[in-house]
Amino acid sequence: MNKPINDGPTYRAVITGHGSFVPAKTLTNDDLAKMVDTSDEWITTRTGVKVRHITTDNETTAFLATQAAKRALADANLDAADLELIIVATITPEMVFPSTASFVQRALQAKKAWVFDLAAACSGFVYGLSIVQQFLESGRFKNALVIGAETLTKITDWSNRTSCILFGDGAGAVVLERHNDGRGILYSTMSADGDRWEALNCQAYGSRYPAAKELDDPKKIYMEIKGREVYQQAVRRIVEAVTDCMNHCGLSIDDIAMVISHQMNARIIESAAKRLKLPDEKVFLNIAEYGNTSAASVPIAFDECFRQSKIKRGDIVIFVAFGAGLAWGANVIQF
Ligand code: UT7
Repeated sequence: MNKPINDGPTYRAVITGHGSFVPAKTLTNDDLAKMVDTSDEWITTRTGVKVRHITTDNETTAFLATQAAKRALADANLDAADLELIIVATITPEMVFPSTASFVQRALQAKKAWVFDLAAACSGFVYGLSIVQQFLESGRFKNALVIGAETLTKITDWSNRTSCILFGDGAGAVVLERHNDGRGILYSTMSADGDRWEALNCQAYGSRYPAAKELDDPKKIYMEIKGREVYQQAVRRIVEAVTDCMNHCGLSIDDIAMVISHQMNARIIESAAKRLKLPDEKVFLNIAEYGNTSAASVPIAFDECFRQSKIKRGDIVIFVAFGAGLAWGANVIQF
């Protein structure tokens, strides 16, 4: 598994460190069955989720993000003081403003870094990598930190059995550094379909429904999902994004070591993998232990996949994600 793609920019964005963090508290399917009319059997067969990690009131998105970031920095052996860019991909930020990235910068004392949040929902992390790719390839920055961090359980309607079974909290982070040895992000493809914004949303408290005004429907503080529509779109768009990556980079299935998808539902991932003719061993699944952690899901899965020694030097890996927006995208990375 070593297909060097040599023609390209002088510099590439290389992942040199990774880390993840999830809260200690967990909620099993049996716990949920005591809260809503559901069962371990239904949740397992329809989604693949067995247990999810849940934040306590004191555990916030910036806290999770900072813990994951510290692990990624330690792994990369990079001093936070030398960081040049911090992007936090999240739709459950610390507060309306300032950005969650500001809190991470403060916690890390990464005084030199440009910082901002990126709201592309479950695709936030892959969108973030595509931005860093530009900054590192152009030579503008030497390094960057991309974090996917979410506390979706804080906007979960625990009385809605269709949605409350799906989500969990967590954070994953990667350090990227500029190198010119052939490794790195080879290609990114991002897409969106704003016409379908209603398929997945949480409407309070933005400018349309500000916190100072009473809501016409109190449920607007929670995530709303049109499960079937999301399901169908997700399978279609994941297949499209991975196919685009393979065509653009001239890759066959044999060239790909692993596809790390956003973990939204095991059936969605398996269905997309089947259409792509990907063998099971090339599709990483860890949704059973975490549920859907939105922007945190790909970096948590990647961290775990790497620590299980399923990725080695020279391997080509595809990250792919899909979520609210609708927004989806993929990155091709050579390790
Ligand atoms: O990252 C993007 C965010 N993720 C998503 O938006 C999720 C994408 N969608 C999905 O994962 C799936 O559509 C769900 C897991 C949400 C639902 O699975 P499904 O196979 O599409 O089920 P369904 O909505 O068609 O519902 C089938 C039945 C319904 O009952 P009836 O009408 O057939 O009697 C539901 O009321 O299952 C019922 N149901 C449940 N039963 C037990 C729905 N939720 C539950 C539940 N436990 N938790």
